[in-house]
Amino acid sequence: MFASAVKKLFTKKKVNDQAVLTILYGGQSGNSAFLAKEAKKYLQKNNFIPRVVNMAKYDFQQLEGEEHLLMLVSTHGEGEPPEAASRFYRFLFSEEAPRLDRLNFAVCGLGDSSYEHFCQTGKDMDRRLHELGGTRLFDRVDCDVEFHQSAAQWLSGILAVLQNHGGAKTETLQIEADTQRKTFQAVVRQKFRLNTGSDSATFHVVLSVDHRDFSYQPGDSISIIPRNPDLLVQLVLRRLGYTEDVEVNYDDDSHSFQWLLTHAFELTTLSRGLLRRYQAVSKSAGLEALLADEKELNRYLKNHDVADLFADFPSQAGPGELVSIFRKLQARLYSIASSPRIHPGEVHLTVKQVCFSNRGREREGACSSYLNQRLVPGESLPIQVVPNEQFRLPAKPDVPVIMVGAGTGVAPFRAFMQERAQQQIPSKNWLFFGEKRQQYDFLYREDWAGWLSNRRLSRLDLAFSRDRDEKVYVQHKIRQEESTFFEWLDQGAHVYVCGSVAMGHAVRETIRELVALAGNLSDRESENYLNSLMEEGRWHMDVY
Ligand SMILES: Cc1cc2nc3c(=O)[nH]c(=O)nc-3n(C[C@H](O)[C@H](O)[C@H](O)COP(=O)(O)OP(=O)(O)OC[C@H]3O[C@@H](n4cnc5c(N)ncnc54)[C@H](O)[C@@H]3O)c2cc1C
Ligand SMILES: Cc1cc2nc3c(=O)[nH]c(=O)nc-3n(C[C@H](O)[C@H](O)[C@H](O)COP(=O)(O)O)c2cc1C
Repeated sequence: MFASAVKKLFTKKKVNDQAVLTILYGGQSGNSAFLAKEAKKYLQKNNFIPRVVNMAKYDFQQLEGEEHLLMLVSTHGEGEPPEAASRFYRFLFSEEAPRLDRLNFAVCGLGDSSYEHFCQTGKDMDRRLHELGGTRLFDRVDCDVEFHQSAAQWLSGILAVLQNHGGAKTETLQIEADTQRKTFQAVVRQKFRLNTGSDSATFHVVLSVDHRDFSYQPGDSISIIPRNPDLLVQLVLRRLGYTEDVEVNYDDDSHSFQWLLTHAFELTTLSRGLLRRYQAVSKSAGLEALLADEKELNRYLKNHDVADLFADFPSQAGPGELVSIFRKLQARLYSIASSPRIHPGEVHLTVKQVCFSNRGREREGACSSYLNQRLVPGESLPIQVVPNEQFRLPAKPDVPVIMVGAGTGVAPFRAFMQERAQQQIPSKNWLFFGEKRQQYDFLYREDWAGWLSNRRLSRLDLAFSRDRDEKVYVQHKIRQEESTFFEWLDQGAHVYVCGSVAMGHAVRETIRELVALAGNLSDRESENYLNSLMEEGRWHMDVY
């Protein structure tokens, strides 16, 4: 199969004897974009002419004519394409998708094996391209969070297939961490609870960064690598039967096992990869059975941690053996809730505390407890800015915006309003905000009140789900305001949705239904309408 695909590559589409390839990427937090750039550099160095295209901007008309396509795509939501890839994904699975008999392709899926639907979008797209007649140039790779090595092997493999045809020797690629994303040292300036009395704690956290290169735009997020909670670290040590002073070699250095558990390894979340690696060293029959039962495995992955794993499937493995099974402690993202114009050198975050009880033990999220409970004002921490090009205010300051946010999903809209409130040109801004109870959970109440009174915020619609017997959510408020909502859309408004994945789905589906009803359109036509908003860059979702 590969050989005939390669033959085609070298017999067609050459410019000055160099083969032309398209590298199509779709992602949200920059990993696939980063890999696409690495792939371009690597292929250019090896005499190809790669062009890199963001799926969000890809002209579908070109697909039929593509002959050589490398696709890098991540999975978001609950096994769904990221926002930037969703339009292309829908097109690919629609009846309008063309036959792709001339296409040679290879897919690199990016994902996280702690999720139920690991690399689902990559898998879906790979299957679909094949169904449409495409030929696999190289097998798909499903990359876990530490994707550098797998992606490098995938690219080297593709090049080997291509170059071996030409008889040349393949250079093995090394992909290092993304050095373009700069790490800044931030200092905690201020922290206070936004929802005293509520049953879940949400904090406003102000960080300052004193560096001339530090910049961001409203819509961007901050990425933070937390420290694990001490209680959990102690529990893991006890379950392994190790003392605090056990030393071990890791990354060519000697560390205490306790330090690694606190700073280097993911403890609060589990992944398939970790369980498989632990199974290999523990040889536990129980763990083997769990790994073979997909349903039970997904249940276990959702609300268990590393301390549960070691208690449920004990092993005699020593620290030297165990260090190699852990996942690196992962960065968490937080939407920025401030505008740099109003708060230069600062980022404001809106952090909801993750805490829950399972099997009689209280558990806390690693990063939300680090930010909300453990870090104190004056302490410093490394942060990175994660740009989100899909979630930007309209370039023209007078274009109306409709913002739909629930819970911490309102954070970027505080940044948007700070930005818009200081501009000279008046603009129309409408916020739908949803939470549990008005008395406790009305996050940033004074800010919205201020912008309403000076007319910077044109409308505020509130949905507090637990204030009445009947639950009211933001999508119900949109339904109630249907005609005004359409007036704004007719005036060219951009729509922004931020919050949980479930809320994002509900809002999108409500708007699609309203469009169908108002225009007497079929499901497909109303879907096309939303797609056209996306194509025009007027539909923006950031859900997590
Ligand atoms: C683009 C983006 C923007 C984001 N913006 C924000 C933001 O502005 N504010 C914000 O607060 N968060 C935001 N998040 C979420 C944030 O990144 C973290 O995922 C969140 O804070 C939890 O991280 P943690 O380290 O505290 O919890 P983890 O340590 O990662 O979670 C621990 C485990 O708890 C499980 N868990 C959580 N709750 C329960 C429960 N009730 N029952 C059972 N199990 C549970 C989880 O599945 C997980 O396995 C954003 C995420 C993304 C992707
Ligand atoms: C909100 C959110 C949801 C995610 N959902 C999934 C998922 O369902 N399956 C999966 O394999 N990975 C999932 N991931 C992990 C991402 O795919 C992974 O971090 C990937 O490297 C991101 O690449 P990108 O920066 O190009 O988007 C999710 C990540 C986030 C932030």
